[in-house]
Amino acid sequence: MNVLGIDIGGTGIKGSLINIKTGELTGDHLRIQTPPSLKPEPVLDVIEEIVDHYKWEGLLGCGYPGVIIQNVINTATNLDPSWIGINLAEKIKEKTNNTSWIINDADAAGIAEMHFGAGRNIKGVVIVLTVGTGIGSAFFADGQLFPNTEMGLIIMNKNFAERSISSVARERENLTWEDWAKRFNHYLQYLNTLFSPDLFIIGGGGAIEPNNYVPYLTIDTPLVPAEHRNNAGMIGAAMAALNQQI
Ligand code: BGC
Repeated sequence: MNVLGIDIGGTGIKGSLINIKTGELTGDHLRIQTPPSLKPEPVLDVIEEIVDHYKWEGLLGCGYPGVIIQNVINTATNLDPSWIGINLAEKIKEKTNNTSWIINDADAAGIAEMHFGAGRNIKGVVIVLTVGTGIGSAFFADGQLFPNTEMGLIIMNKNFAERSISSVARERENLTWEDWAKRFNHYLQYLNTLFSPDLFIIGGGGAIEPNNYVPYLTIDTPLVPAEHRNNAGMIGAAMAALNQQI
């Protein structure tokens, strides 16, 4: 069975049909640049474009980069503030006539990794981090998600941690991978102190090539790259829609 998975990011919006049984993409994914205004209406136009591309009439799961409570958007750290208060599932229904379920993008990626990827069958405390326009987090205890954690927003050096360790920060400041990894290592050590996880899973477009940064990490806690790389968000959003999870 397929569900259409969509992942709204600060730089790109991706969609693909997802085989819910296997967690695999059915065919190719489509990536469209996030409209520069970062406002709801143009992003909804992109969602409509993705739905039309796949001629999709069915269930749709959508990852969004902020806190979501029952399909209602609570924060818009890296998007326009006019998103706040919107019921995105209702808007998608108006626009495409499809039923959808909205979930935080990192929680979606985490769900995919815990079911079909690096966290498969792992008990204990697992922290999944996504490195992209922001830093997203998903927390699991014995496979159970604690939703809407915002570990990119913990304060480090008087600012949100993601302001200095996102891939946008790495590019903006022209950091070498070694310099970036040192910052990231510091951040991981802090999370370690706070939460004592058994495993870190690192995903997102900004950390797609582990060889770039893993050699510079000194953290003792086991750390593995996300197996589904940049697709985990779409896969997990589709899975969450089926289960109407969180
Ligand atoms: C948002 C999170 C999101 C992360 C990754 C952060 O700025 O606050 O909700 O998961 O970016 O997109």
